[in-house]
Amino acid sequence: MKSFATAQRRSSELAQLIADAPHEYRVLTGERPTGPLHLGHYFGSIVERLRLQQSGVESFLILADYQVITDRDSMPRVREFVHGAVLDYLAAGMDPEQTTIFTHSSVPALNQLLLPFLSLVTEAELRRNPTVKAELAASGRALSGLLLTYPVHQAADILFCKGNLVPVGKDNLPHVEMTRLIARRFNERYEEIFPEPEALITSSPEVPGLDGRKMSKSYGNAISLGMSPAETAQAIRRTTTDTERRIAFDPAARPGVSALLSTAALCLGETPEAIAEKLGDSGSGALKQLTTEAVNDFLAGHRARRSELAKDSGYVSDILKRGNERANLVAKQTLDEVRIAMGTTY
Ligand code: TRP
Repeated sequence: MKSFATAQRRSSELAQLIADAPHEYRVLTGERPTGPLHLGHYFGSIVERLRLQQSGVESFLILADYQVITDRDSMPRVREFVHGAVLDYLAAGMDPEQTTIFTHSSVPALNQLLLPFLSLVTEAELRRNPTVKAELAASGRALSGLLLTYPVHQAADILFCKGNLVPVGKDNLPHVEMTRLIARRFNERYEEIFPEPEALITSSPEVPGLDGRKMSKSYGNAISLGMSPAETAQAIRRTTTDTERRIAFDPAARPGVSALLSTAALCLGETPEAIAEKLGDSGSGALKQLTTEAVNDFLAGHRARRSELAKDSGYVSDILKRGNERANLVAKQTLDEVRIAMGTTY
């Protein structure tokens, strides 16, 4: 497997290539809608997607609802999470004309690619996948067939539209490698149909949650984009800090204080150290106040647009309907090519 450093180096080359010829790229990105989108998503992926959109690259954005099945707690609320995510994308400035936003389960031809793709990987290869391993450990249950084949679904998500560029965080790199392997094996066995997509590592820093660990709704340490200012203040107030008056950036020794500094810094476009310096000896209360204001100011415009969009109850469904129609069209074309290559046309 390629190293993270190699992928990072390639990603900076890609940035230039994309700027020079945006129309040669098709981006596929996505989300598992397991909860409300939060600041980690904003800085970790939405900003990058907006940048790609601005550079003129065509994008597909999958809401991978079939991947939520492996997380039993989220499944009952999947519709709510999908709708919330679409509101956040639109409020953040994603343009549905340029970005096809669609739901995994609504595109049968995409899912049909799974069968030939499954034949191209071995059980041992799937078991080695780090996400499969991590999700298995977190679930505390026996490994289901769906979880085992998770990376193959993701390959179908990417290849159905012949996406050749996949902006991902570090965790998803092995999936892109698996997708390349599947594309290569398919092309060798049948016919040259699929590109070997490249990972575009997002350069944004990882956003810490309010307890210093990675921001994640499952840790309960996230600030969702759709929270009200009062809910934001409450979440920040609950952060465990310490009694030391002097504010300093020291993630290992003072995770809570440092997480607040990092959050404020991202929202204010400054460094955590500079904010600590400014706060000096004023203690955790002042830090929490500053962070609350920084987050609420930063998200004010987003939240106003989000509530405005939410007033029209049919709008999100409309966007998804259009996105799904387009994704179906593209998926059918690809599946037709696959059928011809495999000789299964009747
Ligand atoms: N597995 C990804 C995640 O948990 C979501 C996802 C599904 C995805 N399909 C994708 C990401 C295709 C990139 C490309 O974040």
